[in-house]
Amino acid sequence: MKPKDYNLKPTFFKKKTDMKIAIIGAGNLGCSIAKGLITTNSITTLYLTRRHLDSIKEFEGYKDVTLTSDNAEAVKNSDILIFAVQPAHMEKILIDIKPLLHENHVLISTITGFSIAKMEGIVGEDQILIRAMPNTAIAVGKSMTCICSNGNGENRLKIAEAIFNKLGTSIAIPENKMQAATVICASGIAFWMRLIRATTQAAIQLGFEAKEAQELAMHTCEGAANLLITTGNHPEQEIDKVTTPKGCTIEGLNEMEHKGLSSSLIQGMVSSFNKINSIKTNQL
Ligand SMILES: NC(=O)c1ccc[n+]([C@@H]2O[C@H](COP(=O)([O-])OP(=O)(O)OC[C@H]3O[C@@H](n4cnc5c(N)ncnc54)[C@H](OP(=O)(O)O)[C@@H]3O)[C@@H](O)[C@H]2O)c1
Repeated sequence: MKPKDYNLKPTFFKKKTDMKIAIIGAGNLGCSIAKGLITTNSITTLYLTRRHLDSIKEFEGYKDVTLTSDNAEAVKNSDILIFAVQPAHMEKILIDIKPLLHENHVLISTITGFSIAKMEGIVGEDQILIRAMPNTAIAVGKSMTCICSNGNGENRLKIAEAIFNKLGTSIAIPENKMQAATVICASGIAFWMRLIRATTQAAIQLGFEAKEAQELAMHTCEGAANLLITTGNHPEQEIDKVTTPKGCTIEGLNEMEHKGLSSSLIQGMVSSFNKINSIKTNQL
């Protein structure tokens, strides 16, 4: 029996392989991943761990989902371990579970700034290690997730891709681009939210009610992204289609550029990148 207050609508994916997954650290991101895995029917079994289980009561009663504060129990009963704890907790957790790991365990870390070398230093190079950088849109199956692996994990990247492709889109990148990917994709959610909010504010000023204004803003944003995803076009090709000479669109666009739209976005992202590179792992 599923709890009535839990608003998940399963879509009916066929399960091809046994997916015995544990999410170690079911906080914001961990729960988002769990929701995505449940709604896409992607699990054989799912263990969710954290110290305070009260906060994840919403997952109680789901078939094949177990809530526990015992990471060891989760590790013993799962093949794929997804880590979503804060960086400061990761080292101790890896040390604690190390004796329970076998060579087929696939360890997928979403921990910002926790390098593969650091993970190898704790659990050993022989382990299959994958880093993934998703974003919070994973809760609605629309995450842009970047993944990379250690040498041993290269031929298991497909497993991570299979998981994250059910939760959005994934792309394999070299590990030295993970910090940049964090800025563009994880922080990127916040950047795009601000752009949508600003559009909403403009729409209100132009006469729309707040709710209506947000609808216009977010669906126009979705449409713009989908145009590029579907056609493969460059943004400027789509811009050319809507900018009539001497028209209102080019007038607005050029005014935005005079005020530094592209420049401020680029500078903001470069600032985020400089910041992330200056933060030590245990401060992230
Ligand atoms: N949020 C994002 O957009 C995003 C994107 C990409 C990557 N990340 C990375 O994902 C990680 C998690 O971020 P978050 O925002 O989800 O953090 P969060 O909400 O703080 O979740 C972390 C969870 O870990 C649990 N935890 C702590 N110690 C534990 C232990 N020993 N065993 C099991 N669970 C434990 C905590 O719950 P208890 O206190 O109840 O144990 C907490 O709920 C971070 O490392 C972050 O860098 C986040």
